[in-house]
Amino acid sequence: MTGSATPRDSWATTLGFFLAAVGSAVGLGNMWRFSYVASQGGGAAFVLLYLLVVAAVGIPLMTSEFVVGRLSQQSPAVALRRLAGPRWAPLGWMFVFCGFGILSYYSVIAGWTMRYAVDAVRNAIPSDTGAYFGTVSAGADALVAHVLFLIMTIFIVARGIKAGLERANLVLMPLLFLILLALALWALTLPGGAAGYAYYLRPDVEKLFNRDVLADGAGQAFFSLSLGMGAMMTYASYLRSKSNLAFEATRIALTDFGVAFVAGLIVFPVIFNFGLQGQIAESTVGALFIALPKGFEQLGRLGDFVDTAFFVMLFFAALTSSISLLEVVVSAVVDRFGWPRPRAAVACGIGAGLLGIPSAYNTNILGAADQVVGNFLLIVGGFFICMLVGYRVYGQADAELGQGLAHAAARRAWGAFVRFIAPAILLFVLYSALPATWQAVRVLLGLG
Ligand code: PHE
Repeated sequence: MTGSATPRDSWATTLGFFLAAVGSAVGLGNMWRFSYVASQGGGAAFVLLYLLVVAAVGIPLMTSEFVVGRLSQQSPAVALRRLAGPRWAPLGWMFVFCGFGILSYYSVIAGWTMRYAVDAVRNAIPSDTGAYFGTVSAGADALVAHVLFLIMTIFIVARGIKAGLERANLVLMPLLFLILLALALWALTLPGGAAGYAYYLRPDVEKLFNRDVLADGAGQAFFSLSLGMGAMMTYASYLRSKSNLAFEATRIALTDFGVAFVAGLIVFPVIFNFGLQGQIAESTVGALFIALPKGFEQLGRLGDFVDTAFFVMLFFAALTSSISLLEVVVSAVVDRFGWPRPRAAVACGIGAGLLGIPSAYNTNILGAADQVVGNFLLIVGGFFICMLVGYRVYGQADAELGQGLAHAAARRAWGAFVRFIAPAILLFVLYSALPATWQAVRVLLGLG
């Protein structure tokens, strides 16, 4: 079934794998969704809860995805059938469906960031940022940017793991960290920033005792860590070294959290320094694409510079995530049907491009697709990964983890999380997410 006789591509170094996984995790989700969810959910109290979810569900699950990936050395679409039997094959294909689905609208938003970055280099920030966002975010402009962004994604994925994905992440991720740090330091100098930090981090414990807050936090953690759809599994299937996968998962998850947290330390001081609080209450998108440029604009030329840096950073973050989404789909086609990688990348990229057209024309459809695929289906996928790894192939998985983690007690703890704690939390979250998901399905079906 595997078509080519040449050996399967792999990461050249562990650092390359680490940066690629961080590149997948750090994306649009970190840059604005986290700050928004955190500020709505109780500030510092929410941040602590979020860290708990990352520890109890995120890290064990990422470890599980890594274990299955490295064990199988194949795309999940092929591997799950081999490892666990035909009844598990649909899970692998659901991952492929999620990859398509998320990429289709993710690249629309990524297209906006690209357009913002390019415009910021060429012109001053428009004074009516709301109207500007309106033009950029829907219709022909959005479609063109969506297509251009996908072409870049296809180009990187077509070149393969070492020459494409690893190299891109090796360059883009350090640049992203540099820009992030510089912007966070700059935000410290804003005279009115203190109110922003206070709003972001005020510990509001009462808000936590709300089912939606926990569900939002868990959904955010899944999306942000790229879990539940085989992205991390696919990346680990190109891993040969017998490194400690639990350790890798922990440092990747903490880096992802760190970036999200620091992004909030940029967004909120800017919003409050320029008195734009009203704008973030209106919509989640508004905070990033409308309010921030409005703040930057008041700084004149320095603002143009900061604006450019910010959107270039966002664009890098989106690109390193979208290549992991496309890779899930492409590796399935390559491993299952034996297509040459470039042909698979182009065909799958075109598929995602077509699927994204409704999202490029209508942000409500984009939001509904995000709720159904980017939130609900990831949790479903996560639950089944727990069942697969915690029960169906537990012995094999435990042995694979043991390759880099000799400590038996640590492996037993991982087992307890994957078998009992994470599934229980996920079932609760699934149940809580049902109403919003049903509403979104109706939007997608054109019913309301
Ligand atoms: N983690 C990415 C982000 O935060 C999105 C993503 C989800 C990427 C699932 C791959 C798989 O933006």
